[in-house]
Amino acid sequence: MNNQTTATVKRQSLQGQWSTRLAFILAVTGSAVGLGNIWKFPYIAGENGGGAFVLIYLLCVFMVGLPIMMSEILIGRRGRRNPVTTMRIVGEEEGGSRKWALVGIMGIIAGVFILSFYSVIAGWAMSYVFSTAGGSFVDADASQVKSIFDQLSGNWKLSAFWHTIFVVITVAVVAQGVQRGLERLVKILMPALLVLLLVLLVFSMNSGYFGQAVEFMFRPNFSALTPSGVLVALGHAFFTLSLGMGAVMAYGAYLPEGTSIASTSVIVVLADTGIALLAGLIIFPVVFANGLESDAGPGLIFQTLPLAFGQMPGGVFFGTLFFVLLSFAAWTSSIGMIEPAVAWMSESKGIKRGVAAGILGAFTWVIGFGTVFSWNLWQDKTFFQGTFFDNIDYLISNVALPLGGLMITIFAGWVMCRNSTSDELNCGTGQMYKTWRFLARYVAPVAVILVLIEASSGGMVSDFLSKIGD
Ligand code: PHE
Repeated sequence: MNNQTTATVKRQSLQGQWSTRLAFILAVTGSAVGLGNIWKFPYIAGENGGGAFVLIYLLCVFMVGLPIMMSEILIGRRGRRNPVTTMRIVGEEEGGSRKWALVGIMGIIAGVFILSFYSVIAGWAMSYVFSTAGGSFVDADASQVKSIFDQLSGNWKLSAFWHTIFVVITVAVVAQGVQRGLERLVKILMPALLVLLLVLLVFSMNSGYFGQAVEFMFRPNFSALTPSGVLVALGHAFFTLSLGMGAVMAYGAYLPEGTSIASTSVIVVLADTGIALLAGLIIFPVVFANGLESDAGPGLIFQTLPLAFGQMPGGVFFGTLFFVLLSFAAWTSSIGMIEPAVAWMSESKGIKRGVAAGILGAFTWVIGFGTVFSWNLWQDKTFFQGTFFDNIDYLISNVALPLGGLMITIFAGWVMCRNSTSDELNCGTGQMYKTWRFLARYVAPVAVILVLIEASSGGMVSDFLSKIGD
């Protein structure tokens, strides 16, 4: 909070740097674009009634997500350590408290829990590579496709098998060091995924139901949106941009000096949002063309896209390729989930990266069984938000990430002094800097707090607003 110049000596990262700015953009995009965009966004948009939800989500992404992404990167580069140490040392340097380290610790815990369910869904995607390649979906109708999904999700041993494989491949890359493992992978995969999505889009546009899908996604019908739906939209903005738990902060620690944080963040946010909207525009025409329910939940893409692949020319090829790329997109995202923890264990506890990654992987793997069982052994054991999976997903996306993001934006906007933030953002104190600071200090924190109040009180904020409106 103080405004004295903090003449810090620039620190060096202990784990190397990104070789180029492009490598960093690709890595953060790789972390952002994943199951959140292609699997989660369409089904939560479907569950929350479409248009109005999408609009709130877009607002959250640009007004809250973007400034927080810039904040995370700038804090990460300032500290150049794992998120726990970074929050502690930058907190102290800026005249705040060492206790800011808690934000990093919360993020580490969140990351392990995110990976625990993420790897189960990613495991399903991997298993679909084989079902699609084996021709299971050729000319299948909706009920056959659904039963193939039920056979996978309902069989805990099969789900656990794929979950295990996904945890192992994630640990393998993280153990190597993020830059080495990740850079090569993302450079090829991201463009390939985009091209394939465009191919699928052409198919959906010709399905005869494209207009209906566009209408569903972009015509806001606010009566379909509940207070908790607003929280889901905000939570998803954090989840899809990998914010609020230190993943982007950890990546920022390896960012060379002088790289523009603002333009990098804008590129990542646009790419991430574009891919989510694309996924929706591909999936909803299939939903409507086949008379499926748009609120089918987490099984939505697994029950819709195979129908499209079953009907389109070259469907076995495109379908297989799609699930391969989806698995890869999940893989490049999963790495960032445990990177903060691995960096912390290796920098602060002297544990080798490989060992640290292994320990975390083991934890995640065990917790993941709760999600595996949510569609079979424990499917009737529901409490609070529903199954075990529903609860983890809720606590992470709708509680932990927004709270973490709130702390991070308060830290960057209020605890760090102007000199430090404008120095890190390398943009002087002109209009761009002022805009970021305004969003980070006022808009983002107030939005997060209002949404949390709205959801926990069942609509207090919107009631109040509508009263003022009258
Ligand atoms: N952003 C990723 C996705 O949308 C998920 C993620 C969350 C990755 C948090 C890293 C950290 O799939």
